[in-house]
Amino acid sequence: MTEQVPFTDVYVDDDIVERVVETLESRRYVKGPRVQELERQFAETCGTAHAVGVSSGTAALHLSMKAAGIGPGDSVLVPAHTFFATVSPVLELGAEPVFVDVNPQTYTMSGTDLARKASKADNPQAVVPVHLYGQPAAMHAVWSVADAHDLTVFEDSCQAHGATYRGERTGSLGDVGCFSFYPSKNMTVAGDGGMLVTDDDELARTARQLRNHGRDADGNHVRLGLNHRLNEVSAAAGLEQLSHLADWNADRAAAAARYRENLGDVPEVELPVERDNGTHVYHLFVVQVPDRDDLQLYLEEQGIQTGIHYDPPVHLTPAMQKELSERPTLPETERICSRILSLPMHPRITDAEIDRVSDAIRRYYE
Ligand SMILES: Cc1ncc(COP(=O)(O)O)c(C=O)c1O
Repeated sequence: MTEQVPFTDVYVDDDIVERVVETLESRRYVKGPRVQELERQFAETCGTAHAVGVSSGTAALHLSMKAAGIGPGDSVLVPAHTFFATVSPVLELGAEPVFVDVNPQTYTMSGTDLARKASKADNPQAVVPVHLYGQPAAMHAVWSVADAHDLTVFEDSCQAHGATYRGERTGSLGDVGCFSFYPSKNMTVAGDGGMLVTDDDELARTARQLRNHGRDADGNHVRLGLNHRLNEVSAAAGLEQLSHLADWNADRAAAAARYRENLGDVPEVELPVERDNGTHVYHLFVVQVPDRDDLQLYLEEQGIQTGIHYDPPVHLTPAMQKELSERPTLPETERICSRILSLPMHPRITDAEIDRVSDAIRRYYE
């Protein structure tokens, strides 16, 4: 049987197992010291005053928006070329998503379309730049539109742990930054988990209450809230994972460089463009090709796993179509969704595996 090239890989070692077992044995599973320590270290990594551990990246987005008061009558500018969970919290809160197109080379929000859509939106209150695939969004454009319309900036940094823009970490570039620890992410907590980071004391306090049944520090239920807590076992694994994040991101960047070197002269393959004012942490390595579905099938036959992130784009999913009164104008998003292909990418991918993937793509186009 052909040996598989896996799309991704989840790291577990003795240190992680030891920390997890120790936490199990501590019998302290929620509201304990490990979540607090992960919050402290994560805030330090991002350069923010606060970090609030929550049950998923989706919860981080939802609770941030709720804490900031987003609700019915508000418009929130979002890309459609992203994971569903960037947008679903907006609708869950009764607000209206206004979809913005992307730059087809960097895959992040188009500043021009953002400015255009913000000036046409009814009561725009917020914007959600997504640092998609690990590359920071063009934040100078986001900041300028946010300033002009007084928008709250919720960064969706669920794919960009450790990325920087003009020397600052993603998560610290807007009013709130939201992270996911889903197992395939650049770091995980061995299950679902998430974190929101902010410099805003009031927002952090409200988010802490919202994740814990609306309780204040004295245990009083001072607002409506559900349970979106991160647990101690997860945090224990997360602490160990966080200690490797910088090295793993460097390994991902090296893998991306090798793909570039191998595939740079294949005319059918459009490589992702890296901005020069930040660091890309390559959660995903996404190329564009003319006959994506056929190539994907061919690679699968060669034992090479790939992914598609995302087709259909959010505004064309059945759930979203039920919510939208008219189809938004998103020519680039709709053009690239049938062209994108995510190649195997993780910190432990070997040069031999990258070469095998690249050779197979080259063979397909010969
Ligand atoms: C861009 C983006 N936003 C939001 C999320 C939601 O995170 P989670 O799966 O932890 O809820 C994810 C990850 O799945 C994501 O990739």
